[in-house]
Amino acid sequence: METWDAIRSRRNVREFSSQPLDEATLDRILEAGRRTPSSRNWQPWDFVVVTDQDQRSRLSKVWRGAWHVAKAPAVVAIVAPLVESHQEKEILHFDLGQLVMVMMVAAADAGVGTGHAVVADQDLARSLLGLPEDRFCAYLISCGYPDGDPLRPLTTIKRRPFREVVHRGVW
Ligand SMILES: Cc1cc2nc3c(=O)[nH]c(=O)nc-3n(C[C@H](O)[C@H](O)[C@H](O)COP(=O)(O)O)c2cc1C
Repeated sequence: METWDAIRSRRNVREFSSQPLDEATLDRILEAGRRTPSSRNWQPWDFVVVTDQDQRSRLSKVWRGAWHVAKAPAVVAIVAPLVESHQEKEILHFDLGQLVMVMMVAAADAGVGTGHAVVADQDLARSLLGLPEDRFCAYLISCGYPDGDPLRPLTTIKRRPFREVVHRGVW
């Protein structure tokens, strides 16, 4: 898929077909993440890949909006360091935002749907993923082929109008 088509095709996918996700495709999504730029190139991420159905079902309980984690053939847990200062937190979350988007666009390029989930119950995530004390689970990304419509460039989108968002020269 062209980059432009991948960007326009990505949408949150929360229902997945029974088609498995092969290792090479999943590795490409992970490799896209590994290549993401970050502040001072600190690369504040690790990925825990979860495919086991029972583990995913339990992981889906970390937040009420994480139910789709139980339905996806593969889930990538984005793990990050616990940082103290406000400035470090801001930089961390900017970097994590870029990371997640790069992985989602790389997935869309391969026809793979992805869904975000935030993590409210960090204790549960920590115990299920075996995380060290100095790390937390920032996001879960459900990955798999969409149930129903395959990914294709969206023609109607729920977004603010272009003319409202774009300001030229001054606000
Ligand atoms: C930081 C962030 C957190 C999100 N958390 C969740 C979540 O916990 N569960 C979920 O189902 N969707 C979650 N979403 C998905 C958004 O609701 C979705 O991206 C938005 O409604 C736009 O829809 P689209 O991704 O299909 O374009 C999250 C998105 C972002 C950027």
